[in-house]
Amino acid sequence: MAEQLSPIDKAKFAAARRAVDFVEDGMRVGLGTGSTAAWMVRCLAETVRDAEMTITTVATSARTAQLARDLGLRVIGLDEARWLDLTIDGADEFDADLTLIKGGGGALLHEKIVATASDQMIVITDAAKEVGTLGAFPLPVEVIPFGWQATRALIEETLASLDVMGQGAELRMKGQAPVVTDEGNHILDLDLKRIGNPRQLSLVLNQIPGVVENGLFIDICDRIVIGHPDGQVELRDIATGAVEREHIDFSESDNLFRDIAD
Ligand code: A5P
Repeated sequence: MAEQLSPIDKAKFAAARRAVDFVEDGMRVGLGTGSTAAWMVRCLAETVRDAEMTITTVATSARTAQLARDLGLRVIGLDEARWLDLTIDGADEFDADLTLIKGGGGALLHEKIVATASDQMIVITDAAKEVGTLGAFPLPVEVIPFGWQATRALIEETLASLDVMGQGAELRMKGQAPVVTDEGNHILDLDLKRIGNPRQLSLVLNQIPGVVENGLFIDICDRIVIGHPDGQVELRDIATGAVEREHIDFSESDNLFRDIAD
């Protein structure tokens, strides 16, 4: 059944499948948003069912919450959970320090709150998202709707004095209307091409009135699981520097692929 998946989906699935092995009975788990995270939610639901585990989850978006509930997972709010053992989420770009760009799916605010309210964050990704220097992927910045054009102008002016290669900030659209996040905000995508100093950029952006949060995740990710279309997975741990390589057998997940095809 796995043959029906595209190479990129196989890679995402392999990473998601491996990451779910870090979930233990009784844990409170943060669920990311995006296509890789959606594979993880499916794998997690299957594992919880098969192993008769009891876990509680907190979703980073309304669509992830819906998927998790549809698959039988218990989903509660972060205020009820208070603190999480582990969050598993995707990313749009990552570098050698496991600094991330996130927010391509528009959920960066809840994703950052949930990840930082967790003992551990594991990122699941395919290998194509690894970069030497962040910034080829436009950096999402969540801004409040009130005065968003003034906020954009301030961002562009600020970028001129920072170590980046572009200054353009595009309002993210869905059809004819601006994207509205789960918090009712808009997203500006910053075309920076190269982010020389992510830490400085993140601090400066978050000081601009109207900016709610930016998509740079710094010192948040503890471990990354990089999947490949042939089932190889590479695990990197930022604290120990350990790198492990394993293999995921797609045939063991035939039931899951069959359920999706149905
Ligand atoms: C969602 O807002 C993002 O942060 C996602 O984690 C990111 O866009 C990765 O998405 P995919 O897993 O779909 O590539």
